[in-house]
Amino acid sequence: MKQLIIAFFLLTAGAVRAQQPADMKMKAFIDALMKKMTLEEKIGQLNLPGSGDVVTGQASNSDIGKKIKEGKVGGLFNIKSVAKIKAVQKVAVEETRLKIPLIFGMDVIHGYETVFPIPLGLSCSWDMQLIEQTARIAAIEASADGICWTFSPMTDLCRDPRWGRIAEGSGEDPYLGAQIGAAMVRGYQGKNLAANNTILSCVKHFALYGASEAGRDYNTTDMSRYRMYNEYFPPYKGAIDAGAGSVMASFNEIDGVPATANRWLMTNVLRNQWGFKGFVVTDYTGIGEMTSHGIGDTPAVSRAAINAGIDMDMVSEAFLTTLMQSVKQGKVTVAQIDAACRRILEAKYKLGLFDDPYRYCDENRAKTEVFTPAHRKTARETAAQSFVLLKNNPLPGGVGVGILPLKKSGTIALIGPLADNKENMPGTWAVAARFNEAITVLQGMKEVAGSNVKILHARGSNLDADSLFEERAGMFGKSLRRDSRPADVMIKEAVDIANQSDVVVVAAGESAEMSGESSSITGIEIPQVQKDLIHALLKTGKPVVLVLFTGRPLAIKWESENVPAILNVWFGGSEAGYAIADVLFGAVNPSGKLTTTWPQNIGQVPLFYNHKNTGRPLTGEWFQKFKTNYLDVTNDPVYPFGYGLSYTSFSYGDVKLSSTSLKGNQVLKASVTVTNTGAYTGKEVVQLYIRDLVGSVTRPVKELKAFEKIELKAGESRTITFNITPADLKFYNYDLKYDWEAGEFEIMIGTNSRDLKKGKVNWVK
Ligand code: BGC
Repeated sequence: MKQLIIAFFLLTAGAVRAQQPADMKMKAFIDALMKKMTLEEKIGQLNLPGSGDVVTGQASNSDIGKKIKEGKVGGLFNIKSVAKIKAVQKVAVEETRLKIPLIFGMDVIHGYETVFPIPLGLSCSWDMQLIEQTARIAAIEASADGICWTFSPMTDLCRDPRWGRIAEGSGEDPYLGAQIGAAMVRGYQGKNLAANNTILSCVKHFALYGASEAGRDYNTTDMSRYRMYNEYFPPYKGAIDAGAGSVMASFNEIDGVPATANRWLMTNVLRNQWGFKGFVVTDYTGIGEMTSHGIGDTPAVSRAAINAGIDMDMVSEAFLTTLMQSVKQGKVTVAQIDAACRRILEAKYKLGLFDDPYRYCDENRAKTEVFTPAHRKTARETAAQSFVLLKNNPLPGGVGVGILPLKKSGTIALIGPLADNKENMPGTWAVAARFNEAITVLQGMKEVAGSNVKILHARGSNLDADSLFEERAGMFGKSLRRDSRPADVMIKEAVDIANQSDVVVVAAGESAEMSGESSSITGIEIPQVQKDLIHALLKTGKPVVLVLFTGRPLAIKWESENVPAILNVWFGGSEAGYAIADVLFGAVNPSGKLTTTWPQNIGQVPLFYNHKNTGRPLTGEWFQKFKTNYLDVTNDPVYPFGYGLSYTSFSYGDVKLSSTSLKGNQVLKASVTVTNTGAYTGKEVVQLYIRDLVGSVTRPVKELKAFEKIELKAGESRTITFNITPADLKFYNYDLKYDWEAGEFEIMIGTNSRDLKKGKVNWVK
């Protein structure tokens, strides 16, 4: 044993030693390079313009090409194809004085050409390995096509479904958000950034972007430090602790100072407290926009940004055009510019670009590693894991079993504006998607159902009655190709085919561009014209299944009460149509669980499970005067955080605790036995929540602390044990000290954040 320990020690010590020369080698290389650089060239490295006007074969003469030759560009983003990237890289390494390679970024957010579910959907899989794998595949494809840097993960915690960008994040929970952010970073960056199939990740948007007032995009945020540290910061920190190489500043202000100029945030928190060593890029025109925020003209806001700790300027060209002058005036130091330049060069070095600037430009890989059958297969499987079964009532007279899964026989009416539309399948951030090859619900159902099923199809309705709204919600070309017929004519056609069918499937909800950037909304119900369609279909008396497309939690109280089966499918990516059919026909048993709370109406927002108690909480019946509640609706959501059904059912035994009184660093074992009481093999996400009953500051009514996704055969039982330590009880107190406090804790385990079995422990220091 002793020998083993010594061997281990020598090995780890060796690893530490081996790392140091590598760092020293990098430092020596960059020192030598920076000695040769003029101040202009250093400032050039801080400049990140968009892809510009690059045409293959013309790169050198393009406007961007000219700028590159002048040493005024550090990288480019959202430029697609090996040919183009190679062409501009050639300009950088052959036609500039110091031959410094460019870094190429892109919004590879939920896949590259193979598109996975939107991040909010992906988060509902609660499957960290799967999430990591999707990021891995995205990195393989992007790097095969010239990209070495992705603007992902987006770790903005959000509790406001009005905000369109809720679609790009992982929901409302700090703990889950941190796990997912870390999994994505691992997937993108792998173990060796210099490998030709790993890419640099960028944690965004730092910070608090998801808390914009009224859910209006780019809007002000204002919150206490206590809330920042305990609730909104953990997902960023989780991704940064996993080794993310870059961070993107957010558009919003914090404490009256835009994040892009916020030194407390970018230097005190990010670098000094969290030890972040990578580089920080602004968001698109983030520096220039600070003039509209009202904190100065271009030179002033550029200075504010570099002083705050920003390294790279995306699109504004404010650094490029003003920093030199600011140095001359003594308002910015050369040392500050050196520090920013060094961090960017370090990233390029770590990516291996100085060894081989064409490392990510392998035509052969581009042909063989992108949109492969294996990647598409994973996309199909992943999409099915992201779907959340919200409701599944039995057929009239049916026993126990719900309408879903559907039988592969008889006639099915497939109706709805999203039933047969390729462009809307991939979802909001799919820059590189092959829209023409996306699989629609109609196509997927036809192929999966086989020849024993007759599928009738009608559109049934447009997305919205208002054609101008529909135009706004499809601006980037993901049109639903509006049908010019009157609504009643379309509904009649749909009702006719419903009447000829055994079951009706309605593909309805939001279009892909109703969520995402600059797609905030004040009404979160399904558009009325589609509700009218659903009404009419329900009236036929046929069993109706709603296949719900959305990029945000919707207010579907009426649907939850009236439609017998609801499968929420988000935007599932390239293979969504197949995945939807796999779930509808039972090849896959749904297991997704919501990562946001679904409110009854927009007035309840923000509604989230890990809220605080008030001094007058509502206990017992609604309504009570002088208690925390509303006159018109209860405080309850329609669907709580963590909720999602399966084709099978699970029962939970009581929570068993290894002890009810603990001391110091002891480990509490909390167990529960879960039994599959239904007829199908199924997956279940077993969730552990803790409540700290008394604190020096008020504590949430419950907080997710652990979870485990298990698979059980029909009739099978398994005991799941969570090991809880004081580390799980820690929080930032009033002085922002991260520690735990002795006292009583409620330990809760269950199938969602509402339906929980409980135990209690006392834990002293
Ligand atoms: C978005 C970022 C994105 C950037 C580059 C911005 O408008 O806020 O999330 O990475 O554009 O495309």
